[in-house]
Amino acid sequence: MLAATASAAPLSPIRLRLRQQLLQQALRSSVHCRSFIATQPSASSSAATASLPSALEERVSQALEGMRHAGTFKTERIITTPQNSSIKVQSAGDKPVLNFCANNYLGLADRPEVIDRASEFLHKWGNGLSSVRFICGTQAIHKDLENQITQFYGSSNPRDTILYASCFDANAGIFESLLTDQDAIISDSLNHASIIDGVRLCKAKRFRYANGDVADLDCQLQLANDAGCRVKMVATDGVFSMDGVIAPLRDICDVVEKHDALLFVDDAHATGFVGDTGRGTGEYWGVIDRIHLVNSTLGKALGGASGGYTTGHPLLVSMLRNTSRPYLFSNTLPPSVVGAAAAAFDLVDNAAKGGPLLEQLWSNAALFRSRMHEAGFVLAGKDHAIIPVMLGDARIASLMAEKMLARGVYVIGFSYPVVPKDKARIRVQLSAAHSTDQVNYAVDSFIEVGRELNII
Ligand SMILES: Cc1ncc(COP(=O)(O)O)c(C=O)c1O
Repeated sequence: MLAATASAAPLSPIRLRLRQQLLQQALRSSVHCRSFIATQPSASSSAATASLPSALEERVSQALEGMRHAGTFKTERIITTPQNSSIKVQSAGDKPVLNFCANNYLGLADRPEVIDRASEFLHKWGNGLSSVRFICGTQAIHKDLENQITQFYGSSNPRDTILYASCFDANAGIFESLLTDQDAIISDSLNHASIIDGVRLCKAKRFRYANGDVADLDCQLQLANDAGCRVKMVATDGVFSMDGVIAPLRDICDVVEKHDALLFVDDAHATGFVGDTGRGTGEYWGVIDRIHLVNSTLGKALGGASGGYTTGHPLLVSMLRNTSRPYLFSNTLPPSVVGAAAAAFDLVDNAAKGGPLLEQLWSNAALFRSRMHEAGFVLAGKDHAIIPVMLGDARIASLMAEKMLARGVYVIGFSYPVVPKDKARIRVQLSAAHSTDQVNYAVDSFIEVGRELNII
């Protein structure tokens, strides 16, 4: 078309310049097209590999080698059955072993009522929402579960609940959303990694108190006061999971109130089974209504899948819904997981009304503790289904775990840096799914191996 116009009549200088510009533009775009076409992968082009920068490769290889040398490199045993009190593990020759290292405190991970509700919700509500909650990811079941959890904690205080993909996410999102650089977080020194990471994401001033030490907490709160911090939030695990120790929440509440602070508790290792009706460490100490915010998981006692939540004052929960980044920018909890958690909360309610779950769990824990103590083992913790067998030496802990597995009892040795140096241990976790015979068999095996290794 440009050529035809050019041959029709002589062009004015302006039209000539315009024509040149148009020609140049056309040429440029055809060059772009050609170079775009040239960079498309073709069947004949050789496959490029993404090689690692040598500095990174060297550093990571050395770090992993260091872990192997120190005995801290993690290998994963492969389970070939659903999670339960008796499972099959590939490395144990695929014969059944008794599982004493899961957070399956109520045995709900493979419970028919939980699986049936998960399956019902999967079929009725679909596999997932393909969305975060605030775009198009909230179904009636998500609101129902949030209400169910709110009811679970009772109605003496105004309360609302917000679901997350995990308790890790709930911990990552809470501090940054609610606190500013004018505020303070006073954190227990043994808090879970997810609380530590959540605190790191927040601009509030940081104070740390010695594990479970209420006098030190008092001092740190005073320091935060003296520093002019406006809002002071105390953050603690409800249960310290390496030790099986319940945080002294009644005393903590007294100190928190004395300083006009807020209390946040992560009850991941308590919800569903600690306290007379399984409401957690707040119920254990009779202080549910004195705790401002609770985060917990749906991935341990409550069916073992995944998911977490924050429950607390509706104003704070509303702020989280609007600003908490792991909530805003991560996908909605899948319907099957919501169904499983709803069924788990129902079962906990039934257990609280005299069902056998809590009774079986606590009688298992009492039996294990008393027989092991009688046999001469040193045990840590109190009033919890986590019962660490203290061994000191890391090699003894891993050797003992191996020998236990050979006898058909699956337990794990924990050593530095997960626990302090020279405080290696085997962390035993009891479940309502264990039968009395299974608990007795585990104790008998500990006694045999303990004698063989001269521990008792
Ligand atoms: C105290 C505590 N908080 C949070 C979490 C994280 O829970 P989730 O698996 O739901 O992310 C854990 C899990 O190990 C935990 O022990």
